[in-house]
Amino acid sequence: MFIDTHAHLDLCSKNSPIEQIVERAKEKDVNIIIDIGIDLDSCRRTLDNSFRYQNVYSALGIHPHEAGSVDAYVLKEIKGLAKNNKKVVAIGEIGLDYYRNLSSRETQQTAFRKQIEMAKELELPIIVHDRDAHSDCLRILKEETAEKVVFHCFSGDSNMLKDCIERGYFISIAGPVTFQNADKLKDIAAATPLERLMLETDCPFLTPHPFRGKPNEPSMIPLIAEKIAEIKKLELLEIAEITTNNAKLFFGV
Ligand code: NI
Repeated sequence: MFIDTHAHLDLCSKNSPIEQIVERAKEKDVNIIIDIGIDLDSCRRTLDNSFRYQNVYSALGIHPHEAGSVDAYVLKEIKGLAKNNKKVVAIGEIGLDYYRNLSSRETQQTAFRKQIEMAKELELPIIVHDRDAHSDCLRILKEETAEKVVFHCFSGDSNMLKDCIERGYFISIAGPVTFQNADKLKDIAAATPLERLMLETDCPFLTPHPFRGKPNEPSMIPLIAEKIAEIKKLELLEIAEITTNNAKLFFGV
């Protein structure tokens, strides 16, 4: 079986009903889905989804694009949703996005720090969104002594990978590894130790080859796993088993 460690079911539901998405995932052996919040409303909806579907779990966090909304009220709400709730398995996605810069860098960094602090308090792992902000992400995670960390849709180079592995972080790889021009990411996949690797779709974005242009969904995880199996010269079954075990241990699902 597979685990999709990063899906936005809320956004996918614009393309088809969540019930069907979950069903199609099961048909492809994608038996657990981590549904990721990006703002307070979507956090509440990921939680609804996790109550409705036994195999869906929820990650709560405010995306760097929305960093300006992170205030005492929002943090208290998220804490309230997460506390004593077994379906909440991580804080995320949180981090820094210097590509689109929808909030100022300072605002993003403050929101990131506050949410790391919250994750530590709740004893939950952290799902990091890092776009063009590698060194600040690494610096802040270190300064805030974050330990259980996954870089979602990893986009760093081999030096950053080395840093992450030394610190015990996990690397999550999405659909772009199947793209023809993805040599850099293929090298990263090859260099990532199996015991630190997880799979994700980041659906509805980043649809894998050969379905680019169509909406992405968790049922596409095997396409990513197949490509990684090819890169690592392993059987698909081994990739499925190892990445699933990694995700189970990391998220406690
Ligand atoms: Ni995402």
